[in-house]
Amino acid sequence: MRDSDTFVNPSLDDNKSLEQLIERRFSRRHLLQGSMLAAGALSLPGLAGCDGQPETIAASDLDNAGDAVFSAKRFDFEEITRGSDETHHVPTGYDVDVLLRWGDPLFADSPEFDPLQQTAAAQARQFGYNCDFVGFLPLEADDTAQTPRGLLCVNHEYTSTLLMFPDVVEDFPNSMTEALSAVEMAAHGGSVVEIRFVAGRWQVALDSPFNRRIMASNTPMTYSGPAAGHTRLVTAADPAASRGTGTLNNCAGGMTPWGTYLMAEENFHGYFQGELDADHPETANHQRYGVPGGWFQWGCYHEEFNVSREPNAPNRYGWVVEVDVLDPQSTPKKRTALGRFKHEGAESVLAADGRVVLYMGDDERFEYVYKFVTEDRYDPDNRAANLDLLDRGTLYVARFEEDGLLQWLPLQHGQGPLTVENGFASQADVVIEARRAADLLGATPMDRPEDVEAQPGTGRVYVMLTNNTEREVDQVHAANPRANNAFGHIVEISTAQGDHAATTGEWNILVQCGDPAEPSFAAMWNPQTSDNGWFGSPDNCAFDSAGRLWVATDGNPTTGAADGLWALETEGPLRGTGYAFFRAPVGAEVCGPRFTADGKTLFLAVQHPGDGERATFAQPTTRWPDFDAAVPPRPSVVAIYRSDGGLIGS
Ligand code: FEO
Ligand code: CA
Ligand code: CA
Ligand code: CA
Repeated sequence: MRDSDTFVNPSLDDNKSLEQLIERRFSRRHLLQGSMLAAGALSLPGLAGCDGQPETIAASDLDNAGDAVFSAKRFDFEEITRGSDETHHVPTGYDVDVLLRWGDPLFADSPEFDPLQQTAAAQARQFGYNCDFVGFLPLEADDTAQTPRGLLCVNHEYTSTLLMFPDVVEDFPNSMTEALSAVEMAAHGGSVVEIRFVAGRWQVALDSPFNRRIMASNTPMTYSGPAAGHTRLVTAADPAASRGTGTLNNCAGGMTPWGTYLMAEENFHGYFQGELDADHPETANHQRYGVPGGWFQWGCYHEEFNVSREPNAPNRYGWVVEVDVLDPQSTPKKRTALGRFKHEGAESVLAADGRVVLYMGDDERFEYVYKFVTEDRYDPDNRAANLDLLDRGTLYVARFEEDGLLQWLPLQHGQGPLTVENGFASQADVVIEARRAADLLGATPMDRPEDVEAQPGTGRVYVMLTNNTEREVDQVHAANPRANNAFGHIVEISTAQGDHAATTGEWNILVQCGDPAEPSFAAMWNPQTSDNGWFGSPDNCAFDSAGRLWVATDGNPTTGAADGLWALETEGPLRGTGYAFFRAPVGAEVCGPRFTADGKTLFLAVQHPGDGERATFAQPTTRWPDFDAAVPPRPSVVAIYRSDGGLIGS
């Protein structure tokens, strides 16, 4: 992603010295471990937790984890080497297929990609730009050959204007036009496309009735949940506040147990222009979200992106959008119960009682980690009954206590400070101003929360905290333990009794990223980590079918090497050991790691290849993946296989 440039949270934690915090946390963890052992918990062998304490796992977690306690290396591949060049790299014995590139046709009648003659109409029938989230929904075979098939669901987060268009020069945005802005809007959103597994490789099925484009313009949406129909979402074009016209900055996302696709709207502030009077009722709200960001010129052509004309318009973005991909005619729904913030992802897991829990990061410096727990239970036998589960439930924000405990605080109107007196007239106000509500509850400001995912079976959750160079020494917190955190870290949450609906838990730090050979960085990895195995700026993550963690980066070039994908041990004596698996071409970040259920295909999104300080359409830093002087670099989804058809990473 393009990051948010700055931060806007005015309610940072109390200042405490690093020494005090470490001392208090160390003491607390010591006591905690003793009590857990007394209660029947097991101390895992080998690597101490990265805070210096032996790692513990509760007996109840072990029941859930099955074979989750490992004493040996869980990955087996030959690491690739650190570096940066014009192409991608995988270990010996692996193959990479470029499956979908920006501009590739998605329908039988799609026009061929012509980078010199781009139109919004063509882009609307083609794969969009800057692929990020990748979801995969298996479908039943529909032929006698029983060909495996499924729907690939891919977010197109944003557009890299200077790399996309031949005639846009350095004085962006002033050289943009209405027609080029329309291309950008059509290149945002998402693509749903059927793929079929033929002769050992996934292929795009252009004739599939499921294929669809979802865009920032001309894609009807509805609003549901507490803010649907609320006056604070009203615009001239939508006086009932019920009809959106698109979605944008869809970063990561999720696939639900009932087979829908969740698109998380992240940096929506960047799309707005104009200004409001200081005393306008929405001014403070917009400031809390960094609106207007002025990254794009859309507001010159569409009043919805000009806050001077449509002061409520920013309240229509920053939501999680649910798409029923099995019904290509369905209207996507913005699920306002999940809160409005700069949503990174929205992966879900079932609680012990069958309710659905979504973990979500708000990716900006000093913002928060959230989760949503549905009111009703998932019914595996009644898909229709699940389709509106996300409209009712409780949104929580995380408070990481310095002593290693975790509290989930409900953003519930009428509870605590979320009252009329504080400007919250109803739950609609709470979800529209989720950040301010979380401020008042005392949530913990984090170092840019990106993807948050639950490890299958263990009741543990991993939070990618990408970096935060704005954190000062006097703002250090035990869960964000480094000032000027240039390389990020990964926090591990252990839920109480392994139940994702629990409102308490514990947290720990899995790794502190960056070069472990540079003492001033205070990086923390398992000493078994090779010089290729450490990284910086964790962003997206995924678990494979064996429950092993994989982490993709956005910002590793600050360590002197390209972004990529790393395998990361979470258990046993090798806990905290990384292994380099995939290296992106120069300029690109790596998104959307997604494994098929059989563990034999890994999909990755390679976003903004060819980007760089002075990179343009004419002079990109690479022309990956086509390497054709007439074709600009193209963000693409790749499929990775083991050459012998075996399990990835084993
Ligand atoms: Fe779009 Fe937080 O990365
Ligand atoms: Ca990022
Ligand atoms: Ca991201
Ligand atoms: Ca993920």
